[in-house]
Amino acid sequence: MGNERLVDVMYGSETGNAEAIARRIHAELGEHGLSAGCILPLNSYEQTCLSHVDEKSPVQSRMFVFVISTYGDGDVPFNTDRFFKYLRKKSHPVDFLRNVSYAVLGLGDTNYTNFCNGSKRLERALKKYGAKNVYYRGEADDEIGLHLVVEPWIDGLWDAMNKYFGAEAIAPALQAQTEKLDPSPAKAPTQLNGVPKPAELKLRVEESVGPVENSSTKTENGEFTGRVCGARLLTSTSCDKRVWHMEVESDNNLSYQPGDAFSVRVRNNAEEVDELLAILKVDGNKVISIYDGENLVNGPEKVKDTLGWRYDIRSPASKKLLRALADSSTDAADEQRLLLWSSRTGRKEYEANILNKSASLLDVLLGNPSCVPSINILLELLPALQPRFYSAASAVEYTPRAVHFAFSVVEAEVASSVRRGVATGYLEDLCRKFIDGERTPNLVLSSRSSGKFKPPAELDVPYIMIGPGTGVAPFLGFLQQRSVLRVDSENLAADVSLYFGCRRRDTDHLYEEELDRFVEGGTLSYLSVAFSREHEHKVYVQDKIKAEGQQLCKLLVENEKSRVYICGDGGEMVRGVVEGLTSVLQDHGGMSKADAKLKMTALERSDRLIKDVWYWG
Ligand SMILES: Cc1cc2nc3c(=O)[nH]c(=O)nc-3n(C[C@H](O)[C@H](O)[C@H](O)COP(=O)(O)OP(=O)(O)OC[C@H]3O[C@@H](n4cnc5c(N)ncnc54)[C@H](O)[C@@H]3O)c2cc1C
Ligand SMILES: NC(=O)c1ccc[n+]([C@@H]2O[C@H](COP(=O)([O-])OP(=O)(O)OC[C@H]3O[C@@H](n4cnc5c(N)ncnc54)[C@H](OP(=O)(O)O)[C@@H]3O)[C@@H](O)[C@H]2O)c1
Ligand SMILES: Cc1cc2nc3c(=O)[nH]c(=O)nc-3n(C[C@H](O)[C@H](O)[C@H](O)COP(=O)(O)O)c2cc1C
Repeated sequence: MGNERLVDVMYGSETGNAEAIARRIHAELGEHGLSAGCILPLNSYEQTCLSHVDEKSPVQSRMFVFVISTYGDGDVPFNTDRFFKYLRKKSHPVDFLRNVSYAVLGLGDTNYTNFCNGSKRLERALKKYGAKNVYYRGEADDEIGLHLVVEPWIDGLWDAMNKYFGAEAIAPALQAQTEKLDPSPAKAPTQLNGVPKPAELKLRVEESVGPVENSSTKTENGEFTGRVCGARLLTSTSCDKRVWHMEVESDNNLSYQPGDAFSVRVRNNAEEVDELLAILKVDGNKVISIYDGENLVNGPEKVKDTLGWRYDIRSPASKKLLRALADSSTDAADEQRLLLWSSRTGRKEYEANILNKSASLLDVLLGNPSCVPSINILLELLPALQPRFYSAASAVEYTPRAVHFAFSVVEAEVASSVRRGVATGYLEDLCRKFIDGERTPNLVLSSRSSGKFKPPAELDVPYIMIGPGTGVAPFLGFLQQRSVLRVDSENLAADVSLYFGCRRRDTDHLYEEELDRFVEGGTLSYLSVAFSREHEHKVYVQDKIKAEGQQLCKLLVENEKSRVYICGDGGEMVRGVVEGLTSVLQDHGGMSKADAKLKMTALERSDRLIKDVWYWG
């Protein structure tokens, strides 16, 4: 390894978490005596030494930091697929990465079976070709908060890299700097350990005049704009939850397959943004531009749009943000409290006051009234507001001009009020506006392939769809496409069945009329609905599946082409349905529990059991 201390940073990311962390690491390299090389998505490997020109010799010596998330069911993000394909090339010499040193940080979510598998796959591939790791592979969990792993992982990274470059001498100094408390002795509670160092602000915010950008509709790679052209409430007014059907039309040609999802950019709740701006004492109509060095990052735009569209003001406050908020407090008690929550010593207090209460920036500011941070601090330390995914509840062959969605409004009780989810609150307001005949702002969307979760190409493949609640959404698209294909085809179509679950027939039987029409027209051979709250005991889709197990087992065991699709809540529902199918194989297929489980694994491996599940956190 040369001693130029040059570090390249690469990322694999779909919704921007890994990219944001990679960019931060890249920006901080200089502070730690390291030189910043490139910062690129993994698919741009051709621009780095990883793409060796000479097939026979190893790549030149280089240090890399990789930050990579996980998608699908343990798959890698889409902006890494070409890189992984490249790594599989047979022509590489066995140790062609022997001069490469690396550190890998994985992002994932423990709700998924294959936690952080993207980072595991990357590390396996790097090791296989002789690359050497200089630091342990981090596994950050979205379920409990990425920053709980990301912050200590980055803190330790500098030391590990400097040691590797042979600069142990400067490592202790860096360590001390990392652990340093606020230099003002009167302010710093010295008994706390591991208070993050105060954040250095890199972004510059300037007041601007002149034309203002419309942040809401500026599209970036792959995105397009659409407008609401239909909306209706799918649940009855007596139901204690609300599910909306929303239609979005676009001037762009819509191109997607049944099963695909769309990411939708959303805006924070306007009242919360106003409340935040009032605390900051900033006029929301003030026009600002944000610069990183000389580069314009965002703007010119109104501050209320910057906070509304770009920053996640809802997720639990990070320790780094709390540390900065402590510095912005004038009351000693507020400051001590915030320092404690941001310190390693205060881990339990952080969990109790921030994570368990899902306390956002606004909650923290309301609870620590002397804290009035500058807008610059927030723009630097708040995470980016992520778009949300929604499965298409339509097929382009059936409704070519509009894509349909079904979304369930998230509601959480905070203190004595009910807060709606960021996206579902925003989308629900759009639906209501549309129904009231008001103008609705354009939406910015982007389609995302759901990989294997798509209907079979041939009509003669029988399949079973299982989708309680909003999990039924993609199956509307399956059935719409099928109804068109059946008309066009002369071949005999195989049977398809749908298992749907809801609370009561008269409150939340989503798409009852549409599904009945598909049954009447022969597109859907069999519809089974589990009404969970109409009986003394709960009845779920898996209970229906078990009760009708004989037919189902015959199909799964005897027809080698048959498939099962599961969609919706990835927690208890998916576990329950998989258990239900396993017991069907035991009860009607004469299998032992172990054999039935093996059969389920085999079905999944051969893409005959396909899941598309999501988690609400
Ligand atoms: C591929 C894919 C397809 C999807 N398809 C659909 C679909 O078709 N239909 C659909 O409805 N959803 C779908 N989802 C889920 C969807 O993307 C969103 O996650 C969901 O709509 C919630 O978004 P939100 O912004 O309204 O909620 P968020 O604001 O992100 O809230 C999410 C969670 O945080 C909790 N929470 C929020 N604020 C607080 C608080 N203050 N205190 C305590 N808890 C809190 C909520 O209870 C909830 O559990 C899909 C997800 C994926 C990944
Ligand atoms: N935090 C929020 O505000 C929020 C908002 C939307 C969705 N979610 C969560 O997301 C999930 C799906 O939401 P949704 O609106 O699409 O559907 P949903 O109405 O919550 O659920 C659809 C049907 O699935 C049933 N169900 C519950 N647990 C199940 C299990 N373990 N196995 C099989 N079926 C089960 C429900 O029954 P019962 O309800 O009668 O048990 C209901 O009949 C739920 O877990 C829900 O809690 C949360
Ligand atoms: C559709 C979908 C599938 C996912 N699948 C997995 C998975 O199989 N394993 C895992 O550990 N995390 C999974 N995740 C969680 C993401 O890896 C995690 O949210 C991460 O922070 C996303 O980072 P990114 O914004 O850089 O893409 C999934 C997330 C989504 C939205």
